[in-house]
Amino acid sequence: MNSISLPAGSPLLKKSFLYGTATSSFQIEGDVDNRLECIWDRFCEQPSAIADHSNGDVACEHIVRIKAFATLYHWDLPQHLEDKGGWLNRQTAYAFEDYVDKISQALGEDVYSYATFNEPFCSAYLGYEIGVHAPGKTGRKYGRTAAHHILLAHGLGMQVLRKNVPNSEAGIVLNFTPCYPATQDTDDLLATRKADEYINQWYMQPVMEGRYPEVLFDLDEADRPPVEDGDMEIICQPLDYLGVNFYTRLHYSAPREKNALYYEHSHQGPLTDIGWEIYPKALYDLLTSLNERYTLPPIFITENGAAMADKLIDGEVNDVDRVSYYHTHLNMVHDAVLVGVKVSGYFAWSLLDNFEWAEGYAKRFGLVYVDFDTQERTLKLSANAYKTLIASRK
Ligand code: FCB
Repeated sequence: MNSISLPAGSPLLKKSFLYGTATSSFQIEGDVDNRLECIWDRFCEQPSAIADHSNGDVACEHIVRIKAFATLYHWDLPQHLEDKGGWLNRQTAYAFEDYVDKISQALGEDVYSYATFNEPFCSAYLGYEIGVHAPGKTGRKYGRTAAHHILLAHGLGMQVLRKNVPNSEAGIVLNFTPCYPATQDTDDLLATRKADEYINQWYMQPVMEGRYPEVLFDLDEADRPPVEDGDMEIICQPLDYLGVNFYTRLHYSAPREKNALYYEHSHQGPLTDIGWEIYPKALYDLLTSLNERYTLPPIFITENGAAMADKLIDGEVNDVDRVSYYHTHLNMVHDAVLVGVKVSGYFAWSLLDNFEWAEGYAKRFGLVYVDFDTQERTLKLSANAYKTLIASRK
């Protein structure tokens, strides 16, 4: 028999009939040294209790093969908090502290790694400074204020994690878009440094060194972040790891408008379907420059991937362009590791095609293709390539 069938019209063939696969902890988890003894452990010790004289010490190694990496905040601030000012309101940082307390008490150390925030830049700058992401507010003061409260929330959250889950890893995920000068002119070089400080180091430097970058002093006093006594010490907590998200780079020139810090060029060269330049070497440059500039904890590449104009043809998505993106970028990580950058792992963005924020469903980043009319899933070529790579590890 090579198929399973049921009588036509069977109630078991109705969509409302739920199918799953069942497991239980003792039967699959193993990892005996890291759990409390239970009655089945003791029972297994009796000479004739178990037919093959085995026990649940190893079982299916489910625990050691699955590490849960949890991100506590990936942009979905409860609307009721936004109604009270969201990240412009310092109280939101304390609400986050309380939330981290409740979540980490509930999930405990079953979570291998906690990240306080995903990409504070996007929440603060895209959401509160230029308004292309939720909640759609605009203004430099708003952007800098939101960033400060998020960074403060990160520091408060880290302290809670250390108390509640001391054996779990704790850190933060920052996104970096490396900045390159359009020319080697002094003005362009200076503008590029300011752009890097404003976009990238604005988050990295407080977290690692407890201070904002120099570009702070280029801002009008009224636009500077609302730093209170002790905030920078709270923000600067030792990290077990730094999550680095990388997609692309940008070019900068001297500012062309009054009050601007820099001029940002639009993307040139080979582009992904979302319009971001494909320039793998920027990932190498980023990792090596961070490693030179800071005393880094181990790094995880927590997001990297590409939106491509996928076509589902005869049940297949032949996304050779995405496979090439992963290939070239993973090789840059390889090169960075060889010159001494400590990278402990890599996460592809993303498992599934999904709701790509301000782009809606139009941009596909998944290893798995999703037909949004039927919700049918199809593994792309990139999913199989990634699977093969992972399986080839020794
Ligand atoms: C990152 C976000 C993620 C996704 C990718 C494409 O900035 O963390 O949610 O939008 O970009």
